[in-house]
Amino acid sequence: MQLAGKKVVVVGGSSGIGLATAELARHAGADVIIASRNAEKLDAVAGRLKVAAIPADVTDDASVENLFRRSGQVDHVVVTAAQLRTGPFKTVPMADVRSTFEGKFWGAWRVARVAEFRTGGSLTLVSGFLSIRPRPNSAIISAANAALESLSRALALELAPVRVNCVSPGIIDTPIRAAMPEAARQDMLARAAAGLPVGRVGQGEDVAHQIVACMTNGFMTGSTIYLDGGALVV
Ligand SMILES: NC(=O)c1ccc[n+]([C@@H]2O[C@H](COP(=O)([O-])OP(=O)(O)OC[C@H]3O[C@@H](n4cnc5c(N)ncnc54)[C@H](OP(=O)(O)O)[C@@H]3O)[C@@H](O)[C@H]2O)c1
Repeated sequence: MQLAGKKVVVVGGSSGIGLATAELARHAGADVIIASRNAEKLDAVAGRLKVAAIPADVTDDASVENLFRRSGQVDHVVVTAAQLRTGPFKTVPMADVRSTFEGKFWGAWRVARVAEFRTGGSLTLVSGFLSIRPRPNSAIISAANAALESLSRALALELAPVRVNCVSPGIIDTPIRAAMPEAARQDMLARAAAGLPVGRVGQGEDVAHQIVACMTNGFMTGSTIYLDGGALVV
């Protein structure tokens, strides 16, 4: 029970990578709080995992303050919350790219500013491999991910002795692509899997294992871990 007696807050914990992280941390003995916007979905997941739930929106200062007022001092915080809007650089509406940055980057910033950590605590941000392997029509995601990776290094200095790391996933099969038609989604995942040295796309649990390692390895800070099934070497 690597996390026995530790309080872990997973912001974005009602789905995908955050949900898998909450589940793994719970299995490792932690008292887990999950946070996200949709209270009904959040409560359903919390009930299933037997963890606590606090609704929060990372785009709202007061909401993030309320989350950490209610959670009190914590040992480990993970931020996976993001809702991404993107499109061709020349035509994607400014409102969409601003909202992507507002949630993914400024959301993590707000959480980092407000959370109060116990001795030995850590903050783990989640970026994405587009930071260093850009693709067409996703410039704003590349930029937000790179900014998060840079922020985590800066905060490893400024928030020390709190340890701050960033996990940068490749393609992970989560509900993040739920809006795609199912056949197109499966086709995209199959093509991605075929192009990777590991021969498969990632699962939420793959990333969760790395995030829990960031929590528990007391020598790890200022690191960005690229966890992508080998996407960076093909
Ligand atoms: N899946 C991939 O292939 C992949 C690849 C690279 C990087 N990533 C990154 O990994 C992170 C997690 O992705 P995922 O695949 O786990 O996504 P997901 O399944 O869509 O989960 C996103 C979570 O964030 C919450 N959320 C969204 N906006 C929020 C806000 N403003 N305030 C609070 N919570 C919010 C969502 O719940 P509500 O909607 O109820 O708020 C949900 O719990 C994201 O940063 C994503 O960019 C994912």
